[in-house]
Amino acid sequence: MNILVTGGSGYIGSHTCIELLNAGHTVTVIDNLSNSSHVALQRVRKITGKEVKFYHGDLLNRQLLETIFSQNQIDAVIHFAGLKAVGESVAKPFLYYHNNITGTLLLCDVMEKYGVHQIVFSSSATVYGAQKTVPLSEELPLQATNPYGKTKQMIEEILQDLSIANPKWSIALLRYFNPVGAHESGLIGEDPNGIPNNLVPFITQVASGRLQELKVFGNQYKTHDGTGVRDYIHVVDLAYGHLRALESVVQNNGVHAYNLGTGIGYSVLDVVSAFEQVIGKPIPYKIVDPRPGDIAVSYADPSKAKEELNWKATKGLYEMCEDAWRWQKTNPLGYEKEIQSV
Ligand code: WQD
Repeated sequence: MNILVTGGSGYIGSHTCIELLNAGHTVTVIDNLSNSSHVALQRVRKITGKEVKFYHGDLLNRQLLETIFSQNQIDAVIHFAGLKAVGESVAKPFLYYHNNITGTLLLCDVMEKYGVHQIVFSSSATVYGAQKTVPLSEELPLQATNPYGKTKQMIEEILQDLSIANPKWSIALLRYFNPVGAHESGLIGEDPNGIPNNLVPFITQVASGRLQELKVFGNQYKTHDGTGVRDYIHVVDLAYGHLRALESVVQNNGVHAYNLGTGIGYSVLDVVSAFEQVIGKPIPYKIVDPRPGDIAVSYADPSKAKEELNWKATKGLYEMCEDAWRWQKTNPLGYEKEIQSV
């Protein structure tokens, strides 16, 4: 099938493009490169030996969407494109609502016009907000607390309503937990703009000497070592989850939400110690105050994806750290070095 991947040059998008191509699909990408690099798609071509059609542009550009759908026989869409920094969303809510929601509305409107009703949507565990119990299952009420998470929750609700209005829509909502790691080649990986917000890219930049020390946001949580617990999932496991979800939306109808997590929670210090085993040296860190808005513990009940998508994460924490470190070592400045040399 010909799959349109929005945000396909991003971290999860580029890893998913590789698995789509390896599975024999053809891939068309639209990406505005606001938080990613075209070098990632060059690397996808290099890893797979296959072509990726790329449109540089924004979902807010309806004319470009019309061009893509009129020039290509799109069979289904995997929709990653969107802004995703929690802190930034608090400071710039309008930017997030306009970019993430208007962009999705335009995408779905053009899909409808061209008779394309199969979509896999990149949602997030952040839609659960702070719940009283773990593990988190898909039946829990959604209660996102920040504008980024609210855009994901609102888009899930919009897609539900599209499906009620027109049963032809077939939709998978994938709620990611904490994606980490990189493709085993070390050629693609997480390449955050500026100082990383997320734990693992921050650790890899400390390990490479690009940053001085890790700040551990609080160690007074009710967890085994006092630091925050999360469900880290290898980005390649996540990519495979998209392949299974795509197969499911092709064979079924309706709207189905799935947690993509391992079901295992690791603390910040568990991750630090796994990294130290991988690199063979200590990661300097300092305990500081908790980060506002952080929850103590979050990890998935992944049983629904296992039962309905026949999908299960297979890679463990050590492999996640190994693969993240290989990407960092091979690309100390992310894709930037390549851009400078291009
Ligand atoms: C993980 C743990 C921090 C950085 C976020 C988004 C979520 C999703 C994934 C998009 C927490 C601690 C972190 C640091 C630290 N993104 N930490 N020092 O907050 O679970 O989820 O990314 O969908 O929407 O909210 O991930 O990696 O930021 O934090 O101690 O420098 O590491 O307190 O316990 P988070 P994270």
